[in-house]
Amino acid sequence: MGSLAATNQLLTEQSSKLRLSATLEINELVQERLNSGKRVVHLGFGEATFPLQKDVLEAHRGASQDTNYVAVAGLQALRESVSRFQSRRLAFPISPDQVVIAPGSKPLLFALFDILRGDVLLPRPSWVSYEPQVTHAGKRLFWVETDEEDRHTITASSLEATYNAAVATGGDPRIMLINSPSNPTGRAFSEATIETITRFCKSHNITIISDEIYSDITFADEHRGSACASGRLNTDQVILTGGLSKTYSAGGWRVGFAVFPPTQFGKTVQRAVLAYASECWSAASAPAQQAAAIAFDTSPSMDLYRQQVAMVHKHCTLRLYEALRNCGLAVPEPKGAFYVYPSFHPYTRQLEQMGVRTSVGLSRWLIEECGIAALPGSVFGEDDTGLPGGRFRLRMATSYLYFRDQQERYSKGYQLLNGIMEENSSPELPLLDEAIAALETAVAKLKSVA
Ligand SMILES: Cc1ncc(COP(=O)(O)O)c(C=O)c1O
Repeated sequence: MGSLAATNQLLTEQSSKLRLSATLEINELVQERLNSGKRVVHLGFGEATFPLQKDVLEAHRGASQDTNYVAVAGLQALRESVSRFQSRRLAFPISPDQVVIAPGSKPLLFALFDILRGDVLLPRPSWVSYEPQVTHAGKRLFWVETDEEDRHTITASSLEATYNAAVATGGDPRIMLINSPSNPTGRAFSEATIETITRFCKSHNITIISDEIYSDITFADEHRGSACASGRLNTDQVILTGGLSKTYSAGGWRVGFAVFPPTQFGKTVQRAVLAYASECWSAASAPAQQAAAIAFDTSPSMDLYRQQVAMVHKHCTLRLYEALRNCGLAVPEPKGAFYVYPSFHPYTRQLEQMGVRTSVGLSRWLIEECGIAALPGSVFGEDDTGLPGGRFRLRMATSYLYFRDQQERYSKGYQLLNGIMEENSSPELPLLDEAIAALETAVAKLKSVA
């Protein structure tokens, strides 16, 4: 029996479509190259790597003997900490009762897609895991086209066009997932775009899931907008998700949260998520929750840590952005998170001359010929048979450009974070310098194609 036939007999139709997440796959590819002694500039994986804030680290150590299952909704101290922090950030009161903790925000998103009725609207491009999660839940996904230049801004007409096309083909869009600041673009919504999206969703009775896992790594005040702000989280059909992985560099501890409106709608969905959680993951790790209660707090030391983290990411990400722009690539200026999203379409002629016609081909050429790992735009929903602007996009993550290994993370990390607060600080980042040099060499290679 062929292996495909065997797979089809073994797995459900939905599960046979699942593949190893592209981000994890590139990490393994990089590891293989490193193991065989080759050098790689690793821009492929968005894993935050700053040293843990010291009180957070201590809290985790101190709780290592907490082995009980905690409540499904999460530790009360942590739910209070999340509600305090989000109340301050969004500037209206949020109760701990509205918060659910889980082992990462990914399972919460998975649960929400599984539980909520209807099909899903998703901006193109979006984070790699939403699409498989949506299709695994048996839903149809409809891409909302974004601005050709920044690949993030959404207009009322693109929303209406996607909605109408979905309905015309028998779709039933009832959910919209948004993510700002965005993985992969590094862009963040303006107030005007938030207004456009929330108004559209309200008028069509669409639930917004607002993935704000990068909200505390935002570079510009005018881009701090949230679909949950202005009291909307307490009145509208909107659900907020976030977690410990990005700002706090503790992805492996697996702590995420969701916040629900205190309305009939919110309570119904929250109850379903809790029931789902109770049958699926039970609760997030107890020591990690104790540590997260410190991390999410509004204490001066955590405020300082968040500020330092955001400033270092800003410095590194903007330097990479400027270098790419100087290389002649089309690249939107990042406004948050730790991603840069260049398009190589100014070099379409040279790429096609080399037989490179898609973002997958481009990413393969970069890693094989230039030793640079970056993810192809197609894994974020870009159309690899479409216009060059989308077809030649790559996502570059800057989060691995700080430390060579775990030892450096702790020997240099706190100094890097503290140093960024000094006036006119310009931290030394040798891995960033190497990345820029490698990209300049890659573009020079492209330019030399006749
Ligand atoms: C946009 C976005 N949302 C959610 C997640 C998942 O984070 P976690 O499950 O670690 O909370 C990630 C991680 O890469 C992400 O980039």
